[in-house]
Amino acid sequence: MQTIWITGGSSGIGFAVARKFLKQNWRVVISSSNKTKLDNASKILKKESKNLYSILCNITNYEDVKKTVTRIENEISPINLALLGAAAYSPNKTQDFDLKNYELLIDVNLKGTINCIDVLKNFMKGRNNHISVISSPVGFRGMPTAGAYGMTKAAQLNLVESLYFDFKKLNIKVSVINPGFIDTDSTKLNSFKMPMLKSPEYAAHEIYKGLTGKYKFEIYFPFLLVFSVKIMRILPLKLYSYFWKKLGNF
Ligand SMILES: NC(=O)c1ccc[n+]([C@@H]2O[C@H](COP(=O)([O-])OP(=O)(O)OC[C@H]3O[C@@H](n4cnc5c(N)ncnc54)[C@H](OP(=O)(O)O)[C@@H]3O)[C@@H](O)[C@H]2O)c1
Repeated sequence: MQTIWITGGSSGIGFAVARKFLKQNWRVVISSSNKTKLDNASKILKKESKNLYSILCNITNYEDVKKTVTRIENEISPINLALLGAAAYSPNKTQDFDLKNYELLIDVNLKGTINCIDVLKNFMKGRNNHISVISSPVGFRGMPTAGAYGMTKAAQLNLVESLYFDFKKLNIKVSVINPGFIDTDSTKLNSFKMPMLKSPEYAAHEIYKGLTGKYKFEIYFPFLLVFSVKIMRILPLKLYSYFWKKLGNF
């Protein structure tokens, strides 16, 4: 039986992925930072499978991450696959520059992800294991009001692409997941209409397929939405800003 560790497994995409992997007979360890949320998620999933474990872990705290990974490796099972999905999301409703928001998102989405990768690499080296980070198409290009979140997602994309080269010598596979809009607690905060909004179960199905099939560096879905955002990366700025002007008068 293989083991997956999912950060941010208490809700949304992480929770749905946990349920999907449990159904496919994986051993699943979920982590998150809020005890009540994690206990609730764990209660639901434990009823469905005895292969579910949960460990409270705030990824912004390096010692917490180290303790968690050490505990999984020594007391549960070596980790075959780590899905780093924990993230903070607090969309700017305006175009104001909110320093506190930048600091929060850097702390969780960037520092937290780096903490996990640093600890995991020490255990995983030489074992042909896999670390996958959930980023976002918001990181493909600067978008109005999305500076703080988008910046952290762009940095994740850049980081994982670097590690694609650097971790080859450690025999650790890395990949990045770029979902379109998925209906979760985070996106419920959005005040705009989200095109091609999909369920967490849809995301979990795509992520399971992508992570357990033939290795690929990038997993993205739904194709049409994310591919369109990819195309926007090559638009000249004038054309790109015309698009946003039409969409939201930015
Ligand atoms: N939903 C979308 O449309 C969408 C699209 C593209 C990418 N994504 C990405 O997908 C991932 C999951 O997002 P989601 O939409 O499923 O959001 P979500 O339901 O809000 O889940 C976020 C998860 O992260 C955990 N978390 C937050 N801060 C943490 C911390 N300091 N330490 C440990 N865990 C922490 C939360 O649990 P606690 O509160 O218990 O800590 C929760 O389990 C994120 O990386 C997000 O950027 C989402």
